Amino acid sequence: MMNEGLTRYVWWQEGIIYQIYPRSFQDSNGDGIGDLQGVLQRLNYLSALGITAVWLSPIYPSPMADFGYDIADYQGVHPLFGSLNDFDALIEAIHQRGMKLILDLVPNHTSDQHPWFLESRSSRDNPKRDWYIWQDKLPDGSPPNNWLSVFGGNAWEWDETTGQFYYHAFLKEQPDLNWRNPEVQEAMLNVMRFWLDKGVDGFRVDVMWHLIKDKNLRDNPVNPDYQPHMATYDQLLPVYSTDQPEVHDLVRQMRHVLDGYTDRLLIGEIYLPIHQLVTYYGIDGKGAHLPFNFQLLTLPWEARQLATAIDQYEGLLPANGWPNWVLGNHDQPRITSRIGREQARVAALMLLTLRGTPTIYYGEEIGMQDVPIPFDEVQDPQGLNMPDKNLSRDPVRTPMQWDDSPNAGFTEGKPWLRLARNFSRENVERQQQDPYSMLSFYKRLIKLRQQEPSLMVGDYVPVYASEQVLGYMRQFDGQPRFLVLLNLSHRPCYLTLNDSSINGVVVLATAPEWEGNRVTNSISLGGDDGLLIRLD
Ligand code: NOJ
Repeated sequence: MMNEGLTRYVWWQEGIIYQIYPRSFQDSNGDGIGDLQGVLQRLNYLSALGITAVWLSPIYPSPMADFGYDIADYQGVHPLFGSLNDFDALIEAIHQRGMKLILDLVPNHTSDQHPWFLESRSSRDNPKRDWYIWQDKLPDGSPPNNWLSVFGGNAWEWDETTGQFYYHAFLKEQPDLNWRNPEVQEAMLNVMRFWLDKGVDGFRVDVMWHLIKDKNLRDNPVNPDYQPHMATYDQLLPVYSTDQPEVHDLVRQMRHVLDGYTDRLLIGEIYLPIHQLVTYYGIDGKGAHLPFNFQLLTLPWEARQLATAIDQYEGLLPANGWPNWVLGNHDQPRITSRIGREQARVAALMLLTLRGTPTIYYGEEIGMQDVPIPFDEVQDPQGLNMPDKNLSRDPVRTPMQWDDSPNAGFTEGKPWLRLARNFSRENVERQQQDPYSMLSFYKRLIKLRQQEPSLMVGDYVPVYASEQVLGYMRQFDGQPRFLVLLNLSHRPCYLTLNDSSINGVVVLATAPEWEGNRVTNSISLGGDDGLLIRLD
């Protein structure tokens, strides 16, 4: 970690987060679904990889309409994943290894089977009626406004018993809570306290920008840029249903709860343009510590565009706002499938050398690809609801490929989702034996990053951007500086950096033949080359 005498940084600034989708990581009881015991069995793998924090996607009791993002009890563990005892054992084992545990918190909506909603829908005068967003129909019988569900169709569901509509940004089985109600706020803050008391080191807050909606529920405007291949949700611009000014007060309340404990982390899942995203750091930095920065997975893989986006982000970050970078998650195509195997190495080098906390999605480190799931095996509601749009998230959620034994060492039963066809060639065990594998590359990269203050916490200095190449420097007072050169194309290219004093040694490269070579300011790169250069 940091050398003595340097400023102290907190664990999540120095660290590397690893997202586990628990269903798909490791099954320990043969039911074909990953579980907490399974995660426990694989902790040594994670600590050898060098990651420092584990984020678990939801493990709570749930009818699984949206694979755990529909929660029926915020303070328990789904029997599929284990028990609270298993959870306690897991957190203890994680802490023993010097790692941290981050839980997914899903405060925007519950399951329609949550006791709160069962009460709320039971009658109009139930004390929990106002915990959800209930509205009368319009005089012509239609829903209260034009809002759409992210998963397709209208966002309002008619409830026959009580004769009103309720709002659901996602599935109708995921009714949105009414965050304007202080009782809801208090209930969710208590959920946070419950897990913090158990020693959880932080939360990744699901759809943070959705939490509160326009008070008057005004119609969303039409999106003039909508194209038929897009999700139906994109027909409108969600300006009244998301990112409302009042959300910042809620985030501040969450942060306040965390600040009552030592060194806990608040991450927000937020898909917004950068200038809106950075407002989630909060006034005086009292909002989220890390509003997830998804630029690397939403922008085209193009050197100039990315260079500009990185600079914009660096420039817009508030004072003391700490950056972060993400290449993939359980909702987005895997990086290897989006930009190809060779570029995925370049992407890894970028993720782990940009300034800020990196988040790795399980399997990224072995270059896992999206797995085609035959139509009759599709399970993701987003895929099932919009079958013609290729939006199923199943392909990015397939079981981790550990070895070449049946079912890749993931389960002794039948995996809940089919495995990649090539798992006997592409798996952890094989890659561990190959010094040039993606896994070996990740390991060396992580190790270097964690040893070098410039890479871990140093400043970001833009150096070069062309059609093909992105170049930047990382530097920290009195420490060796590093130059990163990334060819984001498959074609060779020549470049000359303005600074003619540049001189250094390649310490790590996507193509190992580069390593140990000296470079100056005039360089020719091969296609897909990424170089990490220690400057003299
Ligand atoms: C965002 C989560 O990442 C996604 O998987 C889920 O479907 C929605 N939120 C709804 O909770």
